[in-house]
Amino acid sequence: MIFRICAAAAVGLAAAVCASPPPASAQESVAVEIVNQFNTLFGRHPHTRANHATGALFEGKFTPAPGASDLSTALFLTGAPTPVTVRFSNGGGIPDVADQNPAIGGIRGMAVKFQLSDGGETDLVMISENGFPVATGEDFLGLLTAVGESGPDAPKPIEQFLGAHPAALAFVTAPKPMPVSFGTLPYFGVNAFQFTNAAGEARFGRWRVVPLDGEAFVSDAEAAAREPHALADTLRSAVTEAPVRFRLQVQVAADGDPTGDATKVWPEDRPIVDLGEIAITKALDTAAIENQLLYLPTNLTAGIDISDDPLVELRTEAYAESFGRRQE
Ligand code: HEM
Repeated sequence: MIFRICAAAAVGLAAAVCASPPPASAQESVAVEIVNQFNTLFGRHPHTRANHATGALFEGKFTPAPGASDLSTALFLTGAPTPVTVRFSNGGGIPDVADQNPAIGGIRGMAVKFQLSDGGETDLVMISENGFPVATGEDFLGLLTAVGESGPDAPKPIEQFLGAHPAALAFVTAPKPMPVSFGTLPYFGVNAFQFTNAAGEARFGRWRVVPLDGEAFVSDAEAAAREPHALADTLRSAVTEAPVRFRLQVQVAADGDPTGDATKVWPEDRPIVDLGEIAITKALDTAAIENQLLYLPTNLTAGIDISDDPLVELRTEAYAESFGRRQE
């Protein structure tokens, strides 16, 4: 396979190498085309996620705050603590990527799987930015395609795309300092969900997970000098001393706030409902387990529903496609 340098690193969005694309099929959905394009940008690697390929697994527990069930009847928001399996990750599709690799674009991920007392599961799949560069699957495909189309001509496709999509430009140019560990930065669900309580009151909200001890980052010079997997290693070391704690929150929309557009961040004065504590207690054997694990944004429980945000179901389709490919 022939690799070529692509424009990805320049916009801090994707891989530094681009592989030849797989053959296209007229029947393919946008979600499948996006997974194809991830594989084109980063190469297709066995047993590896198409995006957020490099991760670290932990277990822990979620303890609901008093009154959490005022927002939603979701099983984990009431009663005894719920076990969780948490995967932290670096963005992009490069396996074993160093934390400092510009292809990550400074994007970190946190996926939380609640193992519910009724045998079910609920998944939260979040990133370290509040907001997303695009609102639709078509635009995400357009962005990833522009990233891969580096050429000598000016303006380059990625510059054209960012020029026409101010939210994407803001996303890729926002400062993204290196955290001390995966446990020292906030994560955002970005897409809106609907939360319904026992009285039948429904509200739209967006997940947030924030580190209890506050955010902590290192300087650019320190980041450059660190070990390649310091984000995971520092967290693994910390949990041998004491649980690493986060608060689980939901930012609740005001009437009229857009729920179907992940580029539209809601104002910070919207109420933040505190739902409880996620305590990370133990590192797991990531290599042994992570390929069997699948987090899906639509994996929900009664009391939480999807909104009109078109990305939610599209993401689930793309994640399932990627999961299928990584079983081969
Ligand atoms: C058009 C929108 C998106 C598409 C098509 C997409 C696509 C993907 C794909 C294909 C994977 C690999 C899944 C797997 O193999 O299990 C993935 C993983 C991931 N995505 Fe997305 N993504 C999108 C938006 C988002 C958003 C909005 C967030 C967070 C707010 C996000 C966070 C993550 C995280 C954290 C992972 C890693 C999950 C894990 O640890 O297993 N993605 N994404």
